[in-house]
Amino acid sequence: MKVKAVSGFSKKSKAEKVTWIVHHFLNDNPKLKAILEQYWNPDPTVQKLHDDFTENTLTNFYLPFGIAPNFLINGDLLAVPMVIEESSVVAAASNAAKFWMDRGGFQAEVISTEKNGQVHINFKGTPESLIRYFEAIKPKLLERIDPIQKNMKKRGGGLKELVLIDGTKKLDGYYQLHASFETLDAMGANFINSCLEQIAQAFENEAIDHEVFQKEGIFPEVVMSILSNYVPECLVKAWVECPVDALANNGMDGQAFAENFLRAVEIAKIEPRRAVTHNKGIMNGIDAVVLATGNDFRAVEAGIHAYASRNGSYSSLTEASIQNDLFTFKIEIPMALGTVGGLTSLHPLVQVAHAILQNPNAMELMKITAVVGLAQNFAALRSLITTGIQKGHMKMHLMNILNQLQASESEKQKTIQHFKDRVISHSQVVKFIETLRN
Ligand code: MEV
Repeated sequence: MKVKAVSGFSKKSKAEKVTWIVHHFLNDNPKLKAILEQYWNPDPTVQKLHDDFTENTLTNFYLPFGIAPNFLINGDLLAVPMVIEESSVVAAASNAAKFWMDRGGFQAEVISTEKNGQVHINFKGTPESLIRYFEAIKPKLLERIDPIQKNMKKRGGGLKELVLIDGTKKLDGYYQLHASFETLDAMGANFINSCLEQIAQAFENEAIDHEVFQKEGIFPEVVMSILSNYVPECLVKAWVECPVDALANNGMDGQAFAENFLRAVEIAKIEPRRAVTHNKGIMNGIDAVVLATGNDFRAVEAGIHAYASRNGSYSSLTEASIQNDLFTFKIEIPMALGTVGGLTSLHPLVQVAHAILQNPNAMELMKITAVVGLAQNFAALRSLITTGIQKGHMKMHLMNILNQLQASESEKQKTIQHFKDRVISHSQVVKFIETLRN
């Protein structure tokens, strides 16, 4: 067996790393090595920037950076950058944007902007002593983060509240310091984690000499300190509305469309298996904007899915209603986004994305992102209750199939023409290309 373990890998140069991986895991295949190298940026300065984003970079992994135009949001017309590999997502968002642009556009509003984090603590002594200690020590804990908070406070942000929570009913000896923050235009992860670690250190150190613990001889211990990606106090909502008649669609009259649409949302409300796919469609749009704008899509995903379960059962993130012939469709989601710091000031394409969006602040970006999620859900449900999803999906996927088959430009044109009014499937496309080639 070849030796595949390695020490000091991160110290190797990029060329050495590529050679190592190709030798040990790719049988020295020159083609695969060439592909890794083909995706290097020809400008070494640009490449260096990307190399430095993370450890052990071998090459760049491209994803399409697309645009969904015609998003009318609170009266402003925007073109939204989206980074996503799934072929039909940008087309669907664009269709929904156009549909609603002609019906008054989207409305959006930020409900709250509070983020949070916790210092998780073990304490086996009497709860009263910990409560007394916390009240006594709190000013010192706040003092400790003064230097970190200085700039954030100047701009109106910083720590808002620090409370001790008794979690012993759920887990023996478990307490937490729950901290809430306003981080303005920063996503705030580094700021929050730095504050929490300072608070935790002071909390543990000061306890050693504090009189309340001397009698029992039992001291609190910090287990860990970290922000929470569950941010139900950092909420945004977006909605559309129009007369039911204006929804006439794909041969379906407005009333029938609205009723079927409502039913589709109701099913996603009560059936978790459907809700997960329903919400996945929403996340198609949200993740694409979050990625394009250099934000943390894992954090956003985790927080939003947790919010979808807040009532004890996983459920739809969107709601629809018909009242007095007015159709309303809305979304409410938590989201911690930043427009300064992190990748937003480093990745040149992220900067372009922000510029396309007219350099929004964090609250504006929350609104745009929520709107795209709502639009994506509208587009998916509209297809599902009318033509079915595959028609549009396979139309967009046709080019991927043709590229897989290495079709020439003229073969592509003939295939697109042929399948204009026919059902597209992988096998039918293969068959058609074979007949062309024979
Ligand atoms: C596909 O990526 C997303 C959909 O499945 C969403 C949905 O079913 O609502 C079309």
